[in-house]
Amino acid sequence: MPSANPIAVVTGASSGIGAVYADRLARRGYDLVLVARRIDRLRHLADTLCATHGIKVRSIEADLTEEAGLVQVEELLHTDEGIALLVNNAGNGKLSSTADMSDADTAATIALNVVAPTRLARAVLPAFLRRHSGAIINIASVMAFHPLPITTLYSATKSYVLMFSRGLQGELANTGVRVQAVLPAGTATEFYDHAGIPLSAFDPAVVMTTENLVDAALAGFDKGEEVTLPSVHDVSLWDAYEQARSALFGATQVGTPAPRYV
Ligand SMILES: NC(=O)c1ccc[n+]([C@@H]2O[C@H](COP(=O)([O-])OP(=O)(O)OC[C@H]3O[C@@H](n4cnc5c(N)ncnc54)[C@H](OP(=O)(O)O)[C@@H]3O)[C@@H](O)[C@H]2O)c1
Repeated sequence: MPSANPIAVVTGASSGIGAVYADRLARRGYDLVLVARRIDRLRHLADTLCATHGIKVRSIEADLTEEAGLVQVEELLHTDEGIALLVNNAGNGKLSSTADMSDADTAATIALNVVAPTRLARAVLPAFLRRHSGAIINIASVMAFHPLPITTLYSATKSYVLMFSRGLQGELANTGVRVQAVLPAGTATEFYDHAGIPLSAFDPAVVMTTENLVDAALAGFDKGEEVTLPSVHDVSLWDAYEQARSALFGATQVGTPAPRYV
Protein backbone atom coordinates (compact mmCIF):
# COMPACT_ATOMS: atom_id res chain seq x y z
CA MET A 1 0.00 0.00 0.00
CA PRO A 2 1.46 3.42 -0.87
CA SER A 3 2.13 5.69 2.06
CA ALA A 4 -0.61 8.25 2.82
CA ASN A 5 1.91 10.63 4.37
CA PRO A 6 4.50 12.51 2.34
CA ILE A 7 7.90 10.84 2.64
CA ALA A 8 11.14 12.58 3.61
CA VAL A 9 14.52 10.99 2.89
CA VAL A 10 17.20 12.09 5.37
CA THR A 11 20.82 11.15 4.73
CA GLY A 12 23.15 10.98 7.71
CA ALA A 13 20.27 10.42 10.12
CA SER A 14 22.20 8.21 12.53
CA SER A 15 23.46 11.17 14.60
CA GLY A 16 23.63 14.93 14.99
CA ILE A 17 21.74 17.24 12.66
CA GLY A 18 20.24 14.43 10.57
CA ALA A 19 18.77 12.65 13.60
CA VAL A 20 17.10 15.89 14.74
CA TYR A 21 15.74 16.50 11.21
CA ALA A 22 14.25 13.00 11.37
CA ASP A 23 12.58 13.79 14.67
CA ARG A 24 11.22 17.18 13.55
CA LEU A 25 9.97 15.83 10.21
CA ALA A 26 8.27 12.93 12.01
CA ARG A 27 6.50 15.49 14.22
CA ARG A 28 5.36 17.22 11.01
CA GLY A 29 3.72 13.99 9.84
CA TYR A 30 6.27 12.79 7.28
CA ASP A 31 6.99 9.12 6.85
CA LEU A 32 10.76 8.72 6.75
CA VAL A 33 13.56 6.99 4.94
CA LEU A 34 16.71 7.21 7.07
CA VAL A 35 20.10 6.62 5.46
CA ALA A 36 23.53 6.07 7.05
CA ARG A 37 26.13 3.37 7.64
CA ARG A 38 25.33 2.72 11.33
CA ILE A 39 22.15 0.70 10.83
CA ASP A 40 21.77 -0.10 14.54
CA ARG A 41 21.44 3.60 15.32
CA LEU A 42 18.97 4.14 12.47
CA ARG A 43 16.82 1.23 13.67
CA HIS A 44 16.79 2.55 17.22
CA LEU A 45 15.74 6.01 16.02
CA ALA A 46 13.17 4.48 13.67
CA ASP A 47 11.60 2.46 16.51
CA THR A 48 11.36 5.58 18.70
CA LEU A 49 9.85 7.74 15.95
CA CYS A 50 7.34 5.06 14.89
CA ALA A 51 6.22 4.55 18.48
CA THR A 52 6.01 8.28 19.28
CA HIS A 53 4.51 9.66 16.08
CA GLY A 54 2.75 6.68 14.47
CA ILE A 55 4.61 7.17 11.20
CA LYS A 56 6.33 4.65 8.91
CA VAL A 57 10.12 4.63 8.87
CA ARG A 58 12.48 2.68 6.63
CA SER A 59 16.17 2.44 7.49
CA ILE A 60 18.72 2.01 4.74
CA GLU A 61 22.28 0.97 5.53
CA ALA A 62 24.33 2.68 2.85
CA ASP A 63 27.81 4.09 2.54
CA LEU A 64 27.25 7.12 0.30
CA THR A 65 30.92 7.23 -0.67
CA GLU A 66 30.45 3.84 -2.38
CA GLU A 67 28.77 3.27 -5.73
CA ALA A 68 26.57 0.48 -4.34
CA GLY A 69 25.28 2.68 -1.50
CA LEU A 70 24.53 5.60 -3.81
CA VAL A 71 22.74 3.41 -6.35
CA GLN A 72 20.56 1.92 -3.61
CA VAL A 73 19.31 5.36 -2.55
CA GLU A 74 19.10 6.65 -6.12
CA GLU A 75 16.82 3.75 -7.06
CA LEU A 76 14.50 4.57 -4.20
CA LEU A 77 14.43 8.25 -5.20
CA HIS A 78 13.69 7.25 -8.82
CA THR A 79 10.84 4.92 -7.99
CA ASP A 80 8.98 5.96 -4.82
CA GLU A 81 6.42 8.52 -5.92
CA GLY A 82 5.58 9.36 -2.31
CA ILE A 83 8.91 11.12 -1.72
CA ALA A 84 8.29 14.83 -1.18
CA LEU A 85 11.49 15.96 0.57
CA LEU A 86 15.17 15.05 0.32
CA VAL A 87 17.49 16.26 3.08
CA ASN A 88 21.08 15.98 1.80
CA ASN A 89 22.65 16.10 5.24
CA ALA A 90 25.34 13.39 5.40
CA GLY A 91 28.73 15.05 5.38
CA ASN A 92 32.21 14.78 6.80
CA GLY A 93 35.46 16.64 6.89
CA LYS A 94 38.83 15.95 8.45
CA LEU A 95 40.24 19.22 9.76
CA SER A 96 43.76 19.15 8.38
CA SER A 97 46.01 20.88 5.92
CA THR A 98 45.68 19.67 2.33
CA ALA A 99 49.20 18.22 2.27
CA ASP A 100 48.67 16.29 5.50
CA MET A 101 45.30 14.79 4.56
CA SER A 102 45.34 11.16 3.43
CA ASP A 103 44.26 10.23 -0.08
CA ALA A 104 41.43 8.15 1.42
CA ASP A 105 40.07 11.06 3.52
CA THR A 106 40.37 13.43 0.57
CA ALA A 107 38.41 11.10 -1.70
CA ALA A 108 35.79 10.33 0.97
CA THR A 109 35.13 14.02 1.68
CA ILE A 110 34.63 14.83 -2.00
CA ALA A 111 32.51 11.71 -2.51
CA LEU A 112 30.22 12.36 0.47
CA ASN A 113 29.99 16.16 0.39
CA VAL A 114 29.96 16.74 -3.39
CA VAL A 115 29.16 13.61 -5.40
CA ALA A 116 26.46 12.17 -3.14
CA PRO A 117 24.22 15.27 -2.82
CA THR A 118 24.58 15.91 -6.55
CA ARG A 119 23.59 12.39 -7.53
CA LEU A 120 20.74 12.17 -5.03
CA ALA A 121 19.34 15.53 -6.15
CA ARG A 122 19.55 14.41 -9.79
CA ALA A 123 17.80 11.17 -8.89
CA VAL A 124 14.79 12.83 -7.27
CA LEU A 125 14.39 15.89 -9.51
CA PRO A 126 12.64 14.23 -12.50
CA ALA A 127 9.77 13.03 -10.27
CA PHE A 128 9.55 16.40 -8.49
CA LEU A 129 9.43 18.22 -11.83
CA ARG A 130 6.73 15.87 -13.19
CA ARG A 131 4.61 16.56 -10.10
CA HIS A 132 5.49 20.29 -9.87
CA SER A 133 6.22 19.82 -6.18
CA GLY A 134 8.89 18.64 -3.81
CA ALA A 135 11.83 20.11 -1.94
CA ILE A 136 15.52 19.49 -1.39
CA ILE A 137 17.32 20.74 1.70
CA ASN A 138 21.10 20.80 1.24
CA ILE A 139 23.19 21.12 4.38
CA ALA A 140 26.21 23.26 3.53
CA SER A 141 28.20 25.24 6.13
CA VAL A 142 29.32 28.78 6.89
CA MET A 143 32.77 27.44 5.94
CA ALA A 144 31.42 27.58 2.36
CA PHE A 145 32.43 31.25 2.28
CA HIS A 146 35.34 31.21 4.72
CA PRO A 147 38.20 28.76 4.19
CA LEU A 148 40.66 28.37 7.06
CA PRO A 149 44.05 26.65 6.68
CA ILE A 150 42.62 23.43 8.22
CA THR A 151 39.29 23.55 6.32
CA THR A 152 40.48 23.98 2.74
CA LEU A 153 38.92 20.81 1.34
CA TYR A 154 35.87 20.91 3.60
CA SER A 155 35.22 24.58 2.72
CA ALA A 156 35.65 23.85 -0.98
CA THR A 157 33.12 21.01 -0.82
CA LYS A 158 30.61 23.11 1.13
CA SER A 159 31.12 25.99 -1.29
CA TYR A 160 30.11 23.50 -3.98
CA VAL A 161 26.96 22.62 -2.01
CA LEU A 162 26.08 26.31 -1.74
CA MET A 163 26.71 27.05 -5.44
CA PHE A 164 24.94 23.85 -6.52
CA SER A 165 21.94 24.93 -4.46
CA ARG A 166 22.00 28.50 -5.80
CA GLY A 167 22.21 27.21 -9.36
CA LEU A 168 19.35 24.77 -8.84
CA GLN A 169 17.21 27.54 -7.38
CA GLY A 170 17.61 29.47 -10.63
CA GLU A 171 16.88 26.39 -12.75
CA LEU A 172 13.82 25.46 -10.75
CA ALA A 173 12.19 28.90 -10.58
CA ASN A 174 8.44 28.62 -11.24
CA THR A 175 8.48 24.81 -11.29
CA GLY A 176 6.95 24.29 -7.85
CA VAL A 177 10.16 22.55 -6.74
CA ARG A 178 12.18 24.16 -3.95
CA VAL A 179 15.79 24.01 -2.84
CA GLN A 180 17.00 25.40 0.49
CA ALA A 181 20.68 25.65 1.39
CA VAL A 182 21.31 25.61 5.14
CA LEU A 183 24.61 27.04 6.40
CA PRO A 184 25.24 25.97 9.99
CA ALA A 185 28.10 27.42 12.02
CA GLY A 186 29.56 25.31 14.85
CA THR A 187 26.94 22.86 16.07
CA ALA A 188 27.32 20.35 18.93
CA THR A 189 27.45 17.01 17.11
CA GLU A 190 29.82 14.07 16.65
CA PHE A 191 31.21 15.84 13.57
CA TYR A 192 34.23 17.06 15.53
CA ASP A 193 35.10 13.57 16.86
CA HIS A 194 35.45 12.41 13.26
CA ALA A 195 37.08 15.65 12.10
CA GLY A 196 40.00 15.20 14.51
CA ILE A 197 39.47 18.29 16.69
CA PRO A 198 37.27 17.79 19.78
CA LEU A 199 34.25 20.02 20.26
CA SER A 200 35.75 20.96 23.65
CA ALA A 201 38.45 22.91 21.76
CA PHE A 202 35.81 25.48 20.72
CA ASP A 203 34.41 28.33 22.80
CA PRO A 204 31.00 26.96 23.95
CA ALA A 205 29.56 30.44 23.36
CA VAL A 206 29.88 30.01 19.59
CA VAL A 207 28.49 26.47 19.41
CA MET A 208 24.76 25.96 18.78
CA THR A 209 22.71 23.01 20.01
CA THR A 210 21.61 20.62 17.29
CA GLU A 211 17.96 21.17 18.23
CA ASN A 212 18.23 24.96 17.92
CA LEU A 213 20.04 24.58 14.59
CA VAL A 214 17.42 22.33 13.01
CA ASP A 215 14.45 24.26 14.43
CA ALA A 216 15.87 27.52 13.04
CA ALA A 217 16.64 25.89 9.68
CA LEU A 218 13.09 24.57 9.43
CA ALA A 219 11.72 28.02 10.39
CA GLY A 220 13.75 29.37 7.46
CA PHE A 221 12.33 26.62 5.25
CA ASP A 222 8.79 27.54 6.31
CA LYS A 223 9.49 31.19 5.43
CA GLY A 224 10.51 30.09 1.93
CA GLU A 225 14.15 31.09 2.36
CA GLU A 226 16.59 29.95 -0.32
CA VAL A 227 19.61 30.27 1.97
CA THR A 228 19.30 29.94 5.73
CA LEU A 229 22.07 31.01 8.11
CA PRO A 230 20.67 29.98 11.50
CA SER A 231 23.31 31.78 13.57
CA VAL A 232 23.40 35.07 11.67
CA HIS A 233 21.30 37.63 13.53
CA ASP A 234 21.79 40.47 11.06
CA VAL A 235 20.51 39.06 7.76
CA SER A 236 21.42 42.28 5.92
CA LEU A 237 25.03 40.95 6.01
CA TRP A 238 24.01 38.06 3.73
CA ASP A 239 22.00 40.39 1.49
CA ALA A 240 25.04 42.67 1.09
CA TYR A 241 27.25 39.64 0.34
CA GLU A 242 24.86 38.48 -2.38
CA GLN A 243 24.59 41.98 -3.85
CA ALA A 244 28.39 42.27 -3.96
CA ARG A 245 28.65 38.85 -5.64
CA SER A 246 26.12 39.83 -8.26
CA ALA A 247 27.76 43.24 -8.87
CA LEU A 248 31.17 41.57 -9.20
CA PHE A 249 29.83 39.14 -11.80
CA GLY A 250 28.28 42.05 -13.73
CA ALA A 251 31.64 43.83 -13.69
CA THR A 252 33.31 40.83 -15.37
CA GLN A 253 31.12 41.07 -18.47
CA VAL A 254 33.10 43.69 -20.41
CA GLY A 255 35.36 41.76 -22.83
CA THR A 256 38.48 43.90 -22.30
CA PRO A 257 41.38 43.59 -19.85
CA ALA A 258 41.15 45.90 -16.88
CA PRO A 259 43.46 48.95 -17.26
CA ARG A 260 45.72 47.71 -14.42
CA TYR A 261 46.77 44.78 -16.65
CA VAL A 262 47.60 46.72 -19.83
N1 LIG B 1 28.46 20.13 13.36
C1 LIG B 1 28.82 21.28 12.79
O1 LIG B 1 29.42 22.17 13.41
C2 LIG B 1 28.45 21.52 11.34
C3 LIG B 1 28.59 22.83 10.85
C4 LIG B 1 28.28 23.09 9.52
C5 LIG B 1 27.80 22.07 8.73
N2 LIG B 1 27.67 20.80 9.23
C6 LIG B 1 27.18 19.75 8.32
O2 LIG B 1 26.06 19.12 8.91
C7 LIG B 1 25.91 17.82 8.33
C8 LIG B 1 25.62 16.82 9.43
O3 LIG B 1 26.78 16.70 10.27
P1 LIG B 1 26.68 16.62 11.85
O4 LIG B 1 27.28 17.84 12.40
O5 LIG B 1 25.31 16.25 12.28
O6 LIG B 1 27.74 15.44 12.14
P2 LIG B 1 27.56 13.93 12.59
O7 LIG B 1 26.81 13.83 13.86
O8 LIG B 1 28.93 13.34 12.51
O9 LIG B 1 26.62 13.31 11.44
C9 LIG B 1 27.11 12.96 10.17
C10 LIG B 1 26.13 11.98 9.56
O10 LIG B 1 26.61 11.64 8.25
C11 LIG B 1 26.63 10.23 8.15
N3 LIG B 1 27.71 9.77 7.30
C12 LIG B 1 29.04 9.98 7.46
N4 LIG B 1 29.73 9.33 6.51
C13 LIG B 1 28.81 8.68 5.75
C14 LIG B 1 28.90 7.82 4.62
N5 LIG B 1 30.09 7.50 4.10
N6 LIG B 1 27.77 7.33 4.08
C15 LIG B 1 26.56 7.64 4.63
N7 LIG B 1 26.40 8.46 5.68
C16 LIG B 1 27.53 8.95 6.24
C17 LIG B 1 26.85 9.72 9.57
O11 LIG B 1 26.32 8.40 9.70
P3 LIG B 1 27.17 7.04 9.75
O12 LIG B 1 28.49 7.34 10.38
O13 LIG B 1 26.30 6.13 10.53
O14 LIG B 1 27.28 6.61 8.31
C18 LIG B 1 26.01 10.70 10.36
O15 LIG B 1 24.67 10.27 10.40
C19 LIG B 1 27.20 17.55 7.55
O16 LIG B 1 26.94 17.77 6.16
C20 LIG B 1 28.16 18.61 8.07
O17 LIG B 1 29.14 18.96 7.11
C21 LIG B 1 27.98 20.51 10.52
